Amino acid sequence: MGSVGWSRLQFGFTITYHYLFPQLTMGLALLIVVFKALALRTKKPEYDDLARFWARIFGINFAVGVVTGIPMEFQFGTNWARFSNFSGGVIGLTLAMEGMFAFFAESAFLGLFLFGEKRIGPRAHFVSAFMIFVGSWLSGYFIVATNAFMQHPAGHTLDESGRLVLSDVFAFLFNPWALWQYAHTMSAAVITSAFVVCAVAAYWTLMHRHERHARTALRVGIVAGLIACVMQIFPTGDQHGKMVAAHQPAALAAMEGKFETSTHAELAIIGQPNIEERRLENPIVVPHILSFLAYGSFGAQVKGLDDIPHDEWPDNIELLYYAYHVMVGLGTLLVAIMGIAALLLYKDRLMRTRPVLWVLMLSFPFPYIATTAGWMTAELGRQPWLVYGLMRTVHGSSPRVSSGSVAFTTIGYMGLYTLLSVLFVFLVGRAVARGPEHHGPEHQGENDAEHEPKPQEA
Ligand code: HEM
Repeated sequence: MGSVGWSRLQFGFTITYHYLFPQLTMGLALLIVVFKALALRTKKPEYDDLARFWARIFGINFAVGVVTGIPMEFQFGTNWARFSNFSGGVIGLTLAMEGMFAFFAESAFLGLFLFGEKRIGPRAHFVSAFMIFVGSWLSGYFIVATNAFMQHPAGHTLDESGRLVLSDVFAFLFNPWALWQYAHTMSAAVITSAFVVCAVAAYWTLMHRHERHARTALRVGIVAGLIACVMQIFPTGDQHGKMVAAHQPAALAAMEGKFETSTHAELAIIGQPNIEERRLENPIVVPHILSFLAYGSFGAQVKGLDDIPHDEWPDNIELLYYAYHVMVGLGTLLVAIMGIAALLLYKDRLMRTRPVLWVLMLSFPFPYIATTAGWMTAELGRQPWLVYGLMRTVHGSSPRVSSGSVAFTTIGYMGLYTLLSVLFVFLVGRAVARGPEHHGPEHQGENDAEHEPKPQEA
């Protein structure tokens, strides 16, 4: 593998690992606001306990997210120097805004939320939760807007030295690609956090611990999770798909394993793309649906890879195809899980239906896998372009950095991140085992026995 290949592997590995953390913090930020709002409205202490508990998990995730995010900024300079030189005049804006405004707001208010509750009182404590939410969701927007520029450049011109400069900040910041990509990404973050909240609450319920808190957390997690799971498919997934169809036809054809151009195009549910023979093997398809989903008409023509120049094909069609199908398949499964849980919750049978609690406890990895597959779809679909239509990936690397050097640092990151994972699992495991009580100013001195109903009462 050459130096471009190693640089891609290194960025792919570090960003995949990094994004395991922000997807939870961004989703939790919203759920913490919900817990705080319900605490203010109902005055029930378990809402406050849950807000504090999840803010601690947020803090651990946030710290690991920051630590693993910084090396990626370095990689822009070390491994992708020609890309940084070419596009820094545009994407420097959103990357700097992310650091200056959103990141600082988020960390300052997190400190206030975690350590200032006694001094600032319940309303200001709610406001600090809300500001964490604003900070983390703004951070997310600036990063997604940066990626959206790479997917579908807008608001730029080329200067006389051949570098990109911003010509229209508004067009760059409100790139239509960014709007749907953001909606889809944030709804995925809410799904991740909802599944994690439900998994922990299901664990507490199955263990007959913190059952009042668990019931409350399950209610909030399931309602938020079901809404986000539905939104993930419609409108966000649907509209994002239409964006891809309109602007990245090669990506759409590869995602569907479609080689021949046709009208009334079929949607591939299952099948294995055979690139050498240019066909989908063992396919199960739904006729006409791809034309309708992509262009809003059953008779619309969908371009196949055969009619796209070979040097514009994504370079790993198999992985792209499978990543897309894993995301969509899991999206369907997640709706089903949350739908069943919501039905049982509505009928007041969830706390007694142990198989469903087991499913909720064990399903939390699925949104992480779907999200990773989603980003792989987006990033592999953009290939062979680094900035779509403007710069190819092979032209964006640092020409003087050898493949051996990048391989060495990649292995170093892998080792370091393994250690970080052990520390992370230990810290989160300890927090979950301790549970949600006894951390707020008003709960000092209470214990489980006083605070919890007996198992048979639950
Ligand atoms: C079942 C319905 C789903 C549909 C129709 C759908 C559709 C899409 C489409 C069209 C893309 C853009 C790919 C590209 O840019 O080339 C995408 C990306 C993405 N998807 Fe999904 N998706 C679904 C489910 C999910 C689920 C369940 C998750 C996670 C929980 C998820 C997370 C993502 C992420 C993180 C991205 C990358 C960011 C982006 O470009 O938006 N998706 N999805």
